Amino acid sequence: MSVSLFVVCSATTFSPPSVYGAEILSIEASLVTNYSASVPDVYRYTQPSTQLQNATFCNVTVLYTHPGQNDKVIVEAWLPVDNWNGRFQAVGGGGWVPGRFFLSYDAMNGALADGYATITTDAGLGASLDATPWALLSPGNVDLLLLQNLASVSLNDEAIIGKSLIKSFYGKVPEYSYWNGCSQGGRQGLMLAQRYPTAYDGIATGAPAIHWTKLFSYLQWPQRRPHGNCPDLLFVAGDPDLDFTNLTHAEFDRLAHLSGQMYNSVISTDDPDLSAFCEAGGKLVTFHGLADSIIPPKGTEQYYNAVASVVPDIDGFYRHYEVPGLGHCFGGRGGQPTNLFAQLRAWVEHGTAPGESLGQITDLEGKTQHRILCPYPQRARLDSKCGNSTLAACWSCVDHGGVVDVLEAIYEHRGVPKAEL
Ligand SMILES: *[C@@H]1O[C@H](CO)[C@@H](O)[C@H](O)[C@H]1NC(C)=O
Ligand SMILES: *[C@@H]1O[C@H](CO)[C@@H](O)[C@H](O)[C@H]1NC(C)=O
Ligand SMILES: *[C@@H]1O[C@H](CO)[C@@H](O)[C@H](O)[C@H]1NC(C)=O
Ligand SMILES: *[C@@H]1O[C@H](CO)[C@@H](O)[C@H](O)[C@H]1NC(C)=O
Ligand SMILES: *[C@@H]1O[C@H](CO)[C@@H](O)[C@H](O)[C@H]1NC(C)=O
Repeated sequence: MSVSLFVVCSATTFSPPSVYGAEILSIEASLVTNYSASVPDVYRYTQPSTQLQNATFCNVTVLYTHPGQNDKVIVEAWLPVDNWNGRFQAVGGGGWVPGRFFLSYDAMNGALADGYATITTDAGLGASLDATPWALLSPGNVDLLLLQNLASVSLNDEAIIGKSLIKSFYGKVPEYSYWNGCSQGGRQGLMLAQRYPTAYDGIATGAPAIHWTKLFSYLQWPQRRPHGNCPDLLFVAGDPDLDFTNLTHAEFDRLAHLSGQMYNSVISTDDPDLSAFCEAGGKLVTFHGLADSIIPPKGTEQYYNAVASVVPDIDGFYRHYEVPGLGHCFGGRGGQPTNLFAQLRAWVEHGTAPGESLGQITDLEGKTQHRILCPYPQRARLDSKCGNSTLAACWSCVDHGGVVDVLEAIYEHRGVPKAEL
């Protein structure tokens, strides 16, 4: 269903959003017309490739501050004029970037093509792709408030601002609100489920950087890059010129441990208690590529198991999918789980829980083999009577245990499919 309304895209259309702890500094709005973009599925993570053609939307930017903190945060919302589907889809960032960069804009292009009002935030960090320009107020002094903006606060602000802009523009709040992100965007999605359980009805989150402080420390050890650009241990030592070249393993471990002590409560998202999100009726779908070489897929499996141990009704609100052959968010021999977002939406809007999902593998000859993805802890099993492993219909999800299972074999071969079944 698309809604055609008489809407006016100008700054005066928008009442200043009311966000506790924030002060709106300015609102800008301008109509964008004849906007086209091609959006490959790899930048949408859980949604299929799409084409955005001749779109007309209201581009609204809100500049605000948290008084006393000297920050300036920009939220950018795109509100479709012709074909709004009544829904809101916020998109995440990547690496040290909360949003407002090419990956977020690609995901927004996709959301717009499907009729969503969509949004991104810079969390007040500016446009840099790493933390170097903002991490330290001065040598030895970490900008904890900006780190907190990135970690959590900007996410709730963004949800409130997005819904408020939608209300001003269309005359009503969105029927359903969704989050879509991977990596940093995955971490953001889990933070929302953990701390702001009513912000979104549905959260689709891939390869989440759950153990942020550990992750960045341990990614740095093999590299031990000299001279700066080591944001996480930059953070711990508070010294941009600290030279890691000659750091012993013991010294490194101590810094990594310190990093956890200082920042876990700020930015890590390993809190398994999702009961408030569950009670609010929220639905969560996570996925993780089993050939991810940046964020270990076992961390997300461990998180799912931890949630299962504290929230008895996990089946009522949370599904996790492991994607054989898929790299970090995209890439590798595994394809994107392009049906998951639609399944999440059906769960939120119709109560139909996601079961098996479409998957694919590119074999060694470059041919596509169709597979299914199963909600963890189920595994995909080939029906031996059906016999043709390249057809999704020949696979089914079964409870884990003793099955000879090609997907398992693929995982063990690190993303390389077996040539012979
Ligand atoms: C719309 O954009 C296309 C290219 O994307 C261009 O060829 C066309 O001239 C534009 N039309 C108008 C009316 O600006
Ligand atoms: C592009 O969109 C505008 C506004 O909706 C419409 O008037 C125009 O006919 C469209 N052009 C094409 C080529 O579809
Ligand atoms: C939306 O507006 C902001 C602020 O003027 C600008 O930086 C951004 O490029 C605009 N986006 C589009 C798609 O026009
Ligand atoms: C690291 O150790 C090497 C070899 O002992 C030494 O030449 C170099 O100056 C050291 N670098 C720093 C930054 O201390
Ligand atoms: C399996 O199915 C694919 C796709 O329909 C087909 O190209 C291939 O020949 C089939 N292989 C076997 C062994 O039947």
